[in-house]
Amino acid sequence: MQSSGEEIALSRRIRSYFSISNEEPIVIVRSPGRVNLIGEHTDYNLGLAMPAAIDKTIVGGIIPSPNNKTELHALDLNESFTVPIESIQPQPKGHWANYLLGVLSQITEQQPNLEQFHFAFSGNIPIGAGLSSSAALENCFVFALNEYFGLKHSRENMISISHKAEHDFAKVECGILDQYASMMGRKGKALLLDCQSNTAEELEIDLGTYTFLLADSGVTHSLASSLYNRRKLECQSAMSSLQEADLELKSLRDLDTSELEEKQHLLSEIEYDRCKYVLAENRRVLLAREALKRGAITEFGELLYESHWGLSVNYEVSCDEMDFLVELTEPLDSVAGARMMGGGFGGCTLNVVQSASLSDFQAVASNLYKKRFGKELKFYPFRFVNGTCLL
Ligand code: GLA
Repeated sequence: MQSSGEEIALSRRIRSYFSISNEEPIVIVRSPGRVNLIGEHTDYNLGLAMPAAIDKTIVGGIIPSPNNKTELHALDLNESFTVPIESIQPQPKGHWANYLLGVLSQITEQQPNLEQFHFAFSGNIPIGAGLSSSAALENCFVFALNEYFGLKHSRENMISISHKAEHDFAKVECGILDQYASMMGRKGKALLLDCQSNTAEELEIDLGTYTFLLADSGVTHSLASSLYNRRKLECQSAMSSLQEADLELKSLRDLDTSELEEKQHLLSEIEYDRCKYVLAENRRVLLAREALKRGAITEFGELLYESHWGLSVNYEVSCDEMDFLVELTEPLDSVAGARMMGGGFGGCTLNVVQSASLSDFQAVASNLYKKRFGKELKFYPFRFVNGTCLL
């Protein structure tokens, strides 16, 4: 696979940090961030989503330890962490080392006598923008360890390891979306991900005269992960109530809208709203696939708007800034659709914009956003790329 200029620059950075020449062999891995076209907060409800890996990447390299210690080096933060390999424990919430320690603790459980090593990483995925820099980092590390120590894990195993690291060490009860997309992405394609079977169908995406553009609200909510975990609990508690009445029910995936209406009396108002959103969103993912296959971009765009307002009103994971960013696109002829993307409470909106009007759109959105919130809006164009691999 051909590496991009930015990836080569990042890998040079790792080599130079380790004082290794460009010719000497070293395990270097690139691992991408992701977008999600539609299908938000469906993954932990075993539903459907449409993610893709994008050309924003973390690059990490691994070498034998020169000092008989295992060390992790976050080059962009200029920070290092020495791992007490006999007793790997989570660090305080928010510490970057948790993503790596969560992976390493599982690997050392399976292989207790690993030789000491140093791992260094650097990247260009905007942090806190909802582009899954944490999944990219977990995947980068597990892939590097797998290659370096010849562990022979499948990509599926590595996804599970990264996913468990996020739960046990980063303390986010996420679904499989981010780790799967980052590991399994395909150049030029999105994935229709089924989170019940953990399998995906590759989707050719051709937006015709339109193009995708991310608008970064610059909002990061300090409580985002606990609010996220709370949404999952609300869905679980709705499931328990529904299961009491129907033992066959395994997840919200097994429920259709008319059954939900019939069983509404078993749920609190909040639980009902959450379920209503999840069921509708799963349906929208399938409709979006059909619209994309037919090249019906305006129809696809409408589904993005519906998804957004479902996330905002029924699922309550949007915020004023995201709602504003989506609302401002609604009267614009050059925009087919927009929605908040990812876990919510800040981050990016995904916009489908006429390619010829990209710069006009950016100017209009920036001005309005600045006027209303006094903040600069950042824009990220992106391409779909392959998942985690050796560089
Ligand atoms: C975050 C989580 C994912 C998924 C999305 C919402 O990115 O990590 O598992 O739940 O939010 O779709």
